[in-house]
Order: sequence, then C-alpha cells, then structure tokens
Amino acid sequence: MKRAASTASQAIPLTAIPTDFSNAQSQRILILDFHSQYSQLIARRVREMGVYCELHPFTLSEQKIRNFAPQGIILSGGPQSITEQNALAAPDIVFALGCPVLGICYGMHAMAHQLGGAIQSSHAEFGHTPITIDTESLLFKSINTESLNVWMSHHDQVATLPAGFKRSAYSKRCAHAAIEDPSRHYYAIQFHAEVTNTQQGTQILENFVRHICNTQPLWQPKNIIDETIASIHKQVGTEHVLHAVSGGVDSSVVAALLHRALGKQLHCVFVDTGLLRFDEQKAIDILQNKLGVQVTCIDASDRFLKALKSITDPEQKRKIIGYEFISIFEEHARKIDAQWLAQGTIYPDIIESSQNATIKSHHNVGGLPEKMHLKLLEPLKSLFKDEVRKLGMELVLPKNLVYRHPFPGPGLAVRMLGEIKKEYLDALRKADAIFIEELHAHQLYDKVGQAFAVFLPVKSVGVKGDARHYGNVIALRAVTTTDFMTANWADLSHDFLTRVANRIVNEISSISRVTYDISSKPPATIEWE
Ligand code: XMP
Repeated sequence: MKRAASTASQAIPLTAIPTDFSNAQSQRILILDFHSQYSQLIARRVREMGVYCELHPFTLSEQKIRNFAPQGIILSGGPQSITEQNALAAPDIVFALGCPVLGICYGMHAMAHQLGGAIQSSHAEFGHTPITIDTESLLFKSINTESLNVWMSHHDQVATLPAGFKRSAYSKRCAHAAIEDPSRHYYAIQFHAEVTNTQQGTQILENFVRHICNTQPLWQPKNIIDETIASIHKQVGTEHVLHAVSGGVDSSVVAALLHRALGKQLHCVFVDTGLLRFDEQKAIDILQNKLGVQVTCIDASDRFLKALKSITDPEQKRKIIGYEFISIFEEHARKIDAQWLAQGTIYPDIIESSQNATIKSHHNVGGLPEKMHLKLLEPLKSLFKDEVRKLGMELVLPKNLVYRHPFPGPGLAVRMLGEIKKEYLDALRKADAIFIEELHAHQLYDKVGQAFAVFLPVKSVGVKGDARHYGNVIALRAVTTTDFMTANWADLSHDFLTRVANRIVNEISSISRVTYDISSKPPATIEWE
C-alpha cells in the first residue's frame, strides 16, 4: 500500500530510516502507553504477528519517536478521562509523521480530541458488547460478519467526529465504536481488540499492523537468533563472558545463545544457594550433555544461609541474596578474567522497572548494584517470555526445560515466610517436589502457569499414628496466567489436592497440615513474599 502524505497542517517529513536496526527489527510499530492494564498485551499481539514493536510511555520525546521511525503507531487505552483538565495527550509528532495511527479506547479519545472532535462522558459500557460494522473498512477486512462481540471498558465516548473522519462501527450505547479517516490512515476503536474476549480482535489488529501499516513479518525465531548472535559478537569481541545458569528457561536460552556465539569465551556457573528446588542439577546436566555447554558448579549454600540468618523481611532477603550473587560473580570473573556478566533479563522486566512503584524488587535490572565491575550483556532484553520459549525450542533445548514454570531468583527464600532455616528448607523442598510430581503425573503441570509449595512457620496440631503431632504448615499455590502480571488461582480438583496433601503430611514428618491458596492476583501476588 502506498501511503498518502499526512494532511496534518504542520506535517513534518519522517527522518531517514536509520540503517542500524537489525533486519528482524526493521519492520516496527510503536505503542504509546497511557497506563492501560492491557498495554503489554497489545505489544504481545503485534509480536505474535511477527512484527517488532516497542511499548513506551506516551511521554516519549519527539526525537525518540522520530529515531524509532515507526511504520505505524498504536495509542493504548488508559484509565483517565480526556474531558478532565490537563488530560494526557499524545505527542503532536504522532499526527505529523504521516504514518498510520490506531487509537484504542483512551487512545481513540486522545486522537479524536487532538484532531478537533469532541468527547462526552455518557453511556458507559463494560464487558462483552455486540457492535455492528456498517462501513467497508480496511480495519475490518476478512471479518465477514456484520456483528461482532467485543470487550468494552469506557465511560467516555466520541460524540463529534474530527473533520475527515467517518464511523465504521457502532453499538447500542456507543454511536462511534470504530471511526476512521482512511485518507490519513487514522483508525480508532472504542473496544479492546487486544484482549481475547474480543471476537476476531487479533484479525483487527493484524489488519492494522500488517495491511494498513504495510509491514512484513520478519520478527521470527530464526532471524532473531541469527541477529542476536551477530550482535553478541559485535558487543563482546574477543572478551570473556560470565553467565550464571539457574535451571530456568531464560538463563538456559541465554546459555545456548552465548554458547553458539562465543564458544570458549563463555564461562557458565551454577551457584547452589541452598535455596533451590529439588533436583535442580538435572537442568544443568541437560545444558552440559545436550548442548555441550561447560558449567562450573559453586556450592555457596553455607554462605547464603549465613548471610540470611535471622532475616525475616522479604525485601531485605532479596537484597542480601542479590548482593551475595554479585559478590560471587565478581570473585569468579576475576579468576577467569571475564569482563562481561550475562543476564536473562526479558522485556517485561524492562517495562515494569520503568513503571510504577516497586512492589517487589524482582527484576534482574533492578537487582544490580550501582557500582559493578562487569559490563552487562542482556541478549533477551527485547523479548517476551513466550518469544524466549520459541527461541529455546529453535535452539533445540528440551521441551520440559523450555516450558518449566518460572522460579524466582531468590528461590525458596521468598517461599519461606519469616526466618530461613535449613530444616525448614528441606521440608519445603520435599513438599514442592511432591506437588510438582503429582501435577506431572496427572497431566496438570502444563495447564497451570506456576505451581509451588510455601512454608509457613506456624505450628498447628495434628494427629499422626494416634499421637498428638505439633508441626508446621505447607500452603500450596497454583495459578493460571498468561503474563504473570495478573493470575487466577487454579481450580485443581478436590481429589487431586487431597492426594497431594496426604502425601505431604505422610512423607514429611515435620508437617502436620496443608492448605490451598485461593487468592488471585491482584490483590494477592503470585509469590507469598
Ligand atoms: P509476583 O509474586 O510479583 O510474581 O506476583 C510474578 C512473577 O515474578 C516471579 N518473581 C520473581 N522473579 N525474582 C525473580 O526473578 C524475584 O524476586 C521474584 N519475585 C517474584 C514470580 O515467581 C512470578 O513468576
């Protein structure tokens, strides 16, 4: 499709497309975030189409938007009302670049308002809502039904269209469910096409990204791997890299990539913190035996347990663990003369670290000391978790490693409320192993996003072998989630939970009681600490 020039009065020409983007990133969509809970989801949908995109706050500077050189821009939804004073606005450059723009919910209101339309607070709609498509539109191409069930969540709506716009869909309570000015490639929808509750929502987004923005699907695992390896070469040159593998998917994918890129310049270590799950070593054996990655094991369990003695505050636990990790890495890096530390930071870590108040200082990017003597190499930092998994499969890592549930960096320390003690850790490790073993045995492991046991340092009375037993409590936690930002507790059957609870109480002498956590996120978090 040939793009018509923008008719915006102060149209500014696009800067020349920079040539240093990798090929896979050369087709690119910019998403400007107005604080919608669904913004990351928009980004994931675009990536799933094979098109590179980045999510940035709506305050992104004009220069950065120009440098990004987007082929299209998506304005996300958001919780505000454009009718309020000092309402958030999209940067003017968005409507001056001449590239297609899609406004979603608040993004639609911002677009309509800034281009001369009017917004009114009336007729809120929430949840499933039927809309009728009444104009032939590129946005609704290949959607061969007139009526669609979509996901609405708004108080305001567009009352007067900006000049040049026409309506393309409406609902019973919303006269402008979709509007457009195809001559300028401006499109806007009142509903959330990015959530699965919207029928054919992916097709609508794909129509925008692939057809209206005219992008090619170059963001594919094979291209990403080739280009990541080339970029690792360029960054690292002949220097040496230290990488800590944990048995999780992110660090394993980093190890596999670096092994391909750097061969003997890569030095992997596996730090036994004493806070690991049962049999963690197995995942390391896979890396060594299947991929030929050499891994040095460092037993630091005494060191970690000593540093954590008497500590009960979760954030303090995280900081101590982070500090010990970095000290060990720096000590080891000196021995092997490594200048780089590789980390499995992924894109949501980067997005979340740049947003909001810290709820937990989880992320690799947040956990490093300001003064570190090693340079940081983060080859996965532009990827979502599902993309990391696709890379893992392409790099021939075994499926059971690639699809392992996530395990937090501080390990069992944040699954043991209060003080950490070796005997408690042994009990927790066993309980967790029983739970996971039963999930596998009942084909439930892949149906939940994350499952684990938590140790509660309270005592409760039970009866074991006709005698009074005063033991500790284990809580079981299993959640279904796609992005770990929100999660529902998993509705595991009573029979299954009974079996797991019986095994835990029978096989672990110090445990007298098992509970099941039925809190969702929000308001709870997935981990207990
Ligand atoms: P929450 O508990 O915040 O967890 O709902 C969301 C996801 O993040 C993981 N998590 C962590 N990962 N270091 C990590 O590397 C941490 O300190 C940490 N805390 C939570 C958690 O397991 C879940 O997958």
